[in-house]
This record gives sequence, C-alpha cells and structure tokens, in this order.
Amino acid sequence: MLAFAFVLLCTLASALANQVFLGSSSTLTSCLVNNSLNFEVSHNSTWPNDTTPFNLRYLGHYTPAAIVYPTLTSHVVAAVKCANESGIHVSALSGGHSYSASGYGSQNGTLVIMFRDMAQITYNSSDATATIQPGARLGDVALELNKHGRAMAHGLCPYVGVGGHAGFGGWGLSSRSWGLLIDQVVAADLVLANGTERHVSDLQYPDLFWAIRGASSSFGIVTQYIFKTHQAPATVIRYAYGYQNPNLSEDAFAKLLTSYQTWGYTAPKEIGIVANVWNGGKLVELGGYYMGNLSDFTRISCSLLQATGSPNTMYVENRTWVAALIEVAGATTLSTIGKPDDPRTFFAKSLVTPTHSPLKNTSLAMFARYFAQASIPPTTSWFVQFELWGGRDSVIMSIPANGTAYPHRDHLWTIQFYAYSDATWSETDTNFVNGMVSAITYNMDGTTLGAYANYIDPTLTGWQSKYYAGNYARLAAIQKEVDPRGVFMKAQNIGAPEILPV
Ligand SMILES: Cc1cc2nc3c(=O)[nH]c(=O)nc-3n(C[C@H](O)[C@H](O)[C@H](O)COP(=O)(O)OP(=O)(O)OC[C@H]3O[C@@H](n4cnc5c(N)ncnc54)[C@H](O)[C@@H]3O)c2cc1C
Ligand SMILES: *[C@@H]1O[C@H](CO)[C@@H](O)[C@H](O)[C@H]1NC(C)=O
Ligand SMILES: *[C@@H]1O[C@H](CO)[C@@H](O)[C@H](O)[C@H]1NC(C)=O
Ligand SMILES: *[C@@H]1O[C@H](CO)[C@@H](O)[C@H](O)[C@H]1NC(C)=O
Ligand SMILES: *[C@@H]1O[C@H](CO)[C@@H](O)[C@H](O)[C@H]1NC(C)=O
Ligand SMILES: *[C@@H]1O[C@H](CO)[C@@H](O)[C@H](O)[C@H]1NC(C)=O
Ligand SMILES: *[C@@H]1O[C@H](CO)[C@@H](O)[C@H](O)[C@H]1NC(C)=O
Ligand SMILES: *[C@@H]1O[C@H](CO)[C@@H](O)[C@H](O)[C@H]1NC(C)=O
Ligand SMILES: *[C@@H]1O[C@H](CO)[C@@H](O)[C@H](O)[C@H]1NC(C)=O
Ligand SMILES: *[C@@H]1O[C@H](CO)[C@@H](O)[C@H](O)[C@H]1NC(C)=O
Ligand SMILES: *[C@@H]1O[C@H](CO)[C@@H](O)[C@H](O)[C@H]1NC(C)=O
Ligand SMILES: *[C@@H]1O[C@H](CO)[C@@H](O)[C@H](O)[C@H]1NC(C)=O
Ligand SMILES: *[C@@H]1O[C@H](CO)[C@@H](O)[C@H](O)[C@H]1NC(C)=O
Repeated sequence: MLAFAFVLLCTLASALANQVFLGSSSTLTSCLVNNSLNFEVSHNSTWPNDTTPFNLRYLGHYTPAAIVYPTLTSHVVAAVKCANESGIHVSALSGGHSYSASGYGSQNGTLVIMFRDMAQITYNSSDATATIQPGARLGDVALELNKHGRAMAHGLCPYVGVGGHAGFGGWGLSSRSWGLLIDQVVAADLVLANGTERHVSDLQYPDLFWAIRGASSSFGIVTQYIFKTHQAPATVIRYAYGYQNPNLSEDAFAKLLTSYQTWGYTAPKEIGIVANVWNGGKLVELGGYYMGNLSDFTRISCSLLQATGSPNTMYVENRTWVAALIEVAGATTLSTIGKPDDPRTFFAKSLVTPTHSPLKNTSLAMFARYFAQASIPPTTSWFVQFELWGGRDSVIMSIPANGTAYPHRDHLWTIQFYAYSDATWSETDTNFVNGMVSAITYNMDGTTLGAYANYIDPTLTGWQSKYYAGNYARLAAIQKEVDPRGVFMKAQNIGAPEILPV
C-alpha cells in the first residue's frame, strides 16, 4: 500500500517536471531586475504576509520563487518571458481566494504575478460595459457599478477577486437572471506563455475566448476583462425562511430538500435562492433575494412554502440593491479597500446535479443520518449550501454546454460542502467532508455528477470530466497549442496529470 502510494507520488512529480526543465531562481531574479519589475523575494519584510494564503490549510505548502507586482500589461509580458527563460512556472494571483491557494501554483518555486496593483474598474456609459482589471474585488466592483446604476451577476463574498472568479464561472444570486460572471464577459486581454498579448472575443481568437471562460489559468494571464452590465434594480426583496429541526428527523430533512428541489424546476429566473444547512444540521434556511416587486414575490414564495411547509422563522424585507448585497455577504460594507480579509482553515467539495437526475429522497435521508451521527472535533463547524443554478428559464441554462469552457448548463443545483476549523485541521475533518459527499450520493449514479472548478478541490479524482465534462478534449488541444512548454502548468490545470491529495 505504502509502496504503491510512493510510486504514484513519483509519477506525479516527474509528470509535472517534464513540462519544463529545471528552473533557476537566480536567473529569474536577475531577469526581473534587468526588466525593472517590482518584485519581492523571501528576504523582503512583507514576504511572510504576502505568501500567507487565504486558506491556512495551505500555509507553507507553496513558497514562490518570487512575487511580481505589475501595474502595466508590459510588466506581465516581461515577467512571463523571464519565467519561461528561467524554466520557472508562472501563476496569476488576483483576489487570492482560491480554496487551494492555487494562485501560488501547486509547487514550490513558482513565479507569482500578483494583481494587487491592477484593480481598476472603469464604466463606459456609451456601451454600458465595464473594463475591470483582475485584482479588483467583487464588493468594490458592485459599489463602483452601482454609482452608475449598473450591476453584474457574481459571487457573494466581497473579497473574491475578479481574476479567479471570472476564470472559472462566477455564480451569485442574480445569476439565474443574468448568467455566470463568465457569461457577461464580452472580451478580455491576456498574455500568453510566449509573452504575446491577445485581445480575445467572439470575433478575435474565439477558441481562446471560449477556453478562458471556465479554465483561464491554463491559457494565459488575463490582464483585463470587458463585461456587459445590467441595470441595477432599485430595490429587491430580501427573504429568509428558517426551518429548525431540533431532532433532525431524516425523513423531515429529505422531504424539505426534495420539496425545494421539485419547486426549483419551475422557479422563475428572478428568484435567487439557496438552501443552507447550518448548526450541525439543526437549521435549514431557504433564502436569497427576489429581483422584482413584492406582489410577484408573494405569489412565488407562497408556492415555495406550500411545497416546503411552514417555516419556524420568516424574514422578508424590501432592500436597496447594495443593502441586499451587504446582507447576503453577511458583511457591514462591500468595500474592501484598506481592510484585508481574515484567512481561515477550511476544506470544501462540490457536486453539480444534472436537470434529468434530481437527488433522491433516500440519498438526502442518508445524508441526514450521516451528519447526525458523525463525530467531528468541537472546533470544527460546517455548512452545506444547495444553490439553485438551473430551473425553468435560468439564464445559466440558456447557453449550450459547449458554448463556454464551463460545461454544466443543463443542471439544477450546485451543492457546496464546506467545513472549517478554529484549530489545526485534522484528518477527521477531511474524512467528515468526504463522508458527506459519499452519503448524499448514496443510491445515485455518481458518474452523472459534476464539480465546480471555482470551488476547487485538489483531492478530486477524475477532475477533468467532473469540472469540464465534454469540453475537456477541446481544452486540452488548445492548451497544447498555446502553451506547449507548460509555462502555466499546475495541479488541475488543463493537461495536468491526475493529482494526489495534498
Ligand atoms: C469566502 C469565499 C466566498 C466565495 N463565494 C463564491 C460565490 O458566491 N460564488 C462563486 O462562484 N464562487 C465563490 N467563491 C469561489 C471563488 O469564485 C474562487 O475562489 C475564485 O477563483 C477566487 O478568485 P480570486 O481571484 O480571489 O482567487 P486567486 O486565488 O487569486 O485565483 C484563483 C485561480 O484563478 C487563477 N487566476 C487568478 N487571476 C488570474 C488571471 N488574471 N489570469 C488567469 N488566471 C487567474 C489563479 O491562478 C488561480 O488558479 C468563494 C470563495 C471564497 C473564499
Ligand atoms: C541582466 O543584466 C546583466 C547585465 O547586463 C547581465 O549580465 C545578465 O545576464 C542579465 N540577466 C539575465 C537573466 O538576462
Ligand atoms: C525586496 O528587496 C529588494 C532588495 O533585496 C528590493 O530591491 C526590492 O525593492 C524589495 N521589494 C519590495 C517589494 O519591497
Ligand atoms: C515547499 O517547501 C517547504 C519548505 O521547504 C516544504 O515544507 C513544502 O513541503 C514544500 N512544498 C511542496 C509542495 O513541495
Ligand atoms: C466606450 O464605448 C464606445 C462604444 O463601444 C467606444 O467607442 C469607446 O472607445 C469606449 N470608451 C473607452 C474609454 O473605452
Ligand atoms: C522560452 O524559453 C525557451 C528556452 O529558453 C526559448 O527557447 C524560447 O525562445 C523562449 N520563448 C520566449 C517567447 O521567450
Ligand atoms: C425531540 O427529542 C426529544 C428527546 O428525545 C423529545 O422529548 C421530543 O419530543 C422530540 N421532539 C420532536 C419534535 O420530535
Ligand atoms: C409587479 O411587477 C409586475 C411585472 O412583473 C407588474 O405586472 C405588476 O404590476 C407589479 N406590481 C406592482 C404592485 O407594482
Ligand atoms: C421598496 O422601497 C422602495 C424604495 O424605498 C419603494 O419605492 C417601494 O415602494 C418599496 N416597496 C415596498 C413593497 O415596500
Ligand atoms: C498583507 O497582504 C494583504 C494581501 O495582499 C494586504 O492587503 C495587506 O495590506 C498586507 N498587510 C500588511 C501589513 O502588509
Ligand atoms: C421517498 O419517497 C417515496 C415516494 O414518495 C416514499 O415512498 C419513500 O418513503 C420516501 N423515502 C424517504 C426516505 O423519505
Ligand atoms: C456544440 O454542440 C452543438 C450541439 O450539440 C453542436 O452542433 C456543435 O457543433 C458544437 N460546437 C462545437 C464547437 O463543438
Ligand atoms: C505565441 O503563441 C501564439 C499561440 O500559440 C502564436 O500564435 C504566436 O505566433 C506565438 N508568437 C511568437 C512570437 O512565437
């Protein structure tokens, strides 16, 4: 057993090493100096802070060769060329909120291009587009666009960076109305592995444009996105319905979730909704916001509550757009300027369920039994979020599976299983999360279920098909062509080998 694991490890190490020759960090730093780039190495005083990942489970895992701070695209070009010539891998880091610290690469000795100083957000009123640099954070994007009465669909956490979020999907509570963040990209500028700059859109380099909308980090370093925007609603209806279940009957849990699931198939696109399982399973909360008026919401929420039964707690409020975004973020402001986010210690997995294959009540009942009986350290907490992405006229579903690199279009839910610890992470914690996924897929054909690359899980086996389904082969062909030397290669990038748990 041990010997077998060792062989696998060696296979992986050599597979990644084969992508490039042996790197030289002294050649790299000399090249960075010669190109007058602003960079940091391990003796700089800010290094410990700047190499601390958001997910503290990865603290000390990946030590970069250097971190470059570009302010111009020409800096990115120079940095990529320096890395190529020195035989060093390159990875972009924008908001740094990857679940697996993937902005730092997946090995020691990567050149990290940190977009801290490229975070501009510019709205163009003549064509209603926003030009946004990758270091911009979602909260600041929402605030800036709102000044012009505009908005986009994107994730809930104000600190997530546009660079990663728009690279692999980008879901939020307005996504059923407006699509994923990738669906709002009209063009992008990127730097390829050979330092060439490319402006990509439906008309220019459409293959690359297709590939970066779901798998960007394999193809280039994006230096700027152009997004279409939408009129920001003046107000939305914020709502939350709480179901407390002190005794956690498996059947009651399964019935609540299957009723929500059935209702979701016919839910109109204006409703953004998730079901969150909190407090060790003792609270299920259905909530989000509705992008319409109160009379329409009342009708729709009645149909939901008829299906799911009367909640123990109810919250329905008229909120301005920004106030609603602050509430769903659980924050006090959307601005991130001058206030770094607090790192955490966590592990998450995801499942994406096809429209034609709903979760069974027996699977949900098995899941409820599992979490009721699981023993986890008292310092560990968890939640599971059942996000409604599909259903009826959801705009996410309006795009064909091969319309962007992100493939899961004819799907109902993305489910996120997330555990975090106030203490040191333990194997028990990891096993608990894995067990949740096994329990909920009980009696299900697991091969039909996908995973979401923005909830990146480096332990996922078969990630190629789970993240990219039928799009993987085309992605792999494009990757070989634009980055034959594997300058951007890292774990779970297109073309990377299957990887071992880290
Ligand atoms: C607290 C929290 C809440 C979240 N909420 C949501 C949510 O509501 N909806 C949702 O869909 N997701 C959500 N996510 C997941 C989030 O979308 C991803 O973690 C996202 O990739 C983070 O982007 P980043 O720029 O902050 O991360 P980084 O760590 O900077 O980057 C993530 C990946 O993208 C690559 N990348 C970054 N910038 C570029 C670039 N310029 N060019 C090419 N590749 C690049 C990196 O190399 C890395 O592989 C959440 C994550 C966290 C931590
Ligand atoms: C940087 O410039 C110096 C002086 O011109 C030169 O000796 C050195 O080789 C250059 N380094 C690289 C990596 O090109
Ligand atoms: C890191 O230290 C070097 C000196 O070794 C210095 O030239 C450089 O400016 C420092 N970088 C930063 C970002 O402080
Ligand atoms: C990177 O280097 C550190 C310190 O030497 C080491 O602890 C860590 O295991 C290394 N990471 C990888 C992925 O090899
Ligand atoms: C704004 O959009 C218009 C129309 O597409 C375009 O002509 C103009 O150049 C844009 N302005 C900027 C500053 O990009
Ligand atoms: C990349 O590095 C290789 C090896 O040094 C070199 O042959 C090639 O010209 C480099 N490409 C670019 C665009 O710098
Ligand atoms: C919950 O369990 C307690 C203790 O077993 C029991 O007294 C109580 O009646 C149960 N409540 C419900 C609603 O089933
Ligand atoms: C609510 O919006 C609908 C359109 O979705 C409209 O027909 C209706 O008149 C509105 N009701 C009120 C009270 O504004
Ligand atoms: C919601 O708030 C807006 C702005 O304050 C107001 O115009 C609207 O009438 C309110 N709607 C309801 C249903 O209270
Ligand atoms: C630490 O790094 C974060 C993220 O790059 C930054 O926002 C923060 O200002 C830094 N803090 C210090 C004290 O340098
Ligand atoms: C699942 O639903 C079927 C059909 O409605 C029902 O017969 C069965 O008892 C349910 N099972 C559970 C565990 O709720
Ligand atoms: C995308 O899928 C459609 C329908 O399945 C097919 O007709 C089309 O050729 C595909 N496009 C590409 C580029 O593969
Ligand atoms: C850089 O790579 C792109 C994509 O493969 C290719 O089209 C272009 O010709 C290359 N440029 C140079 C200077 O080699």
